[in-house]
Amino acid sequence: MTVALCPGSFDPPTSGHLDVIRRCARLFERVVVGVVINPSKQSLFSLEERVGFLKAAVADLPQVVVRHHQGLLVDFARREGAQVLVKGLRAVSDFDSELQMAQMNQTVGGIETMFMPTSPAWSFLSSSLIREVASLGGSVAGLVPDSVAEAMKERFHE
Ligand code: PNS
Repeated sequence: MTVALCPGSFDPPTSGHLDVIRRCARLFERVVVGVVINPSKQSLFSLEERVGFLKAAVADLPQVVVRHHQGLLVDFARREGAQVLVKGLRAVSDFDSELQMAQMNQTVGGIETMFMPTSPAWSFLSSSLIREVASLGGSVAGLVPDSVAEAMKERFHE
């Protein structure tokens, strides 16, 4: 069975993330969506919230599970039995750092990376822009899963 790991910070998950995860679920028998904790980075949403958003958004996909990890990505992949990392690419600007990480993960962990082009509809989306728009009072409805849009409204109208 081929297991794919879709890793990220998911702070918060966007429609672009969900698009990649859903397309990945059509290709692999099991998909692990992995929330990676970066202790040196301040996050808007807690780990539990991010895992909850993702679980709700993939509840209709039995082959997809949501897990979390702190530490090296290749150790996460090994723990979950994943043979491949799947990363979305929005534009050529994503490519430099993603190529570097893919080569590092191949070298230190022997794990392959596959890149999935983001759907053009979502190529402008990033979690950081979503946070900025929502924090300044803009609507992010449709750009993020419904549970995220609700949580952002509550967070910034508090
Ligand atoms: O959603 P993001 O913030 O772009 O995800 C980045 C992530 C979590 C995939 C990356 O920071 C990562 O792989 N972190 C784990 C630490 C690690 O293994 N570093 C070496 C990677 S070459």
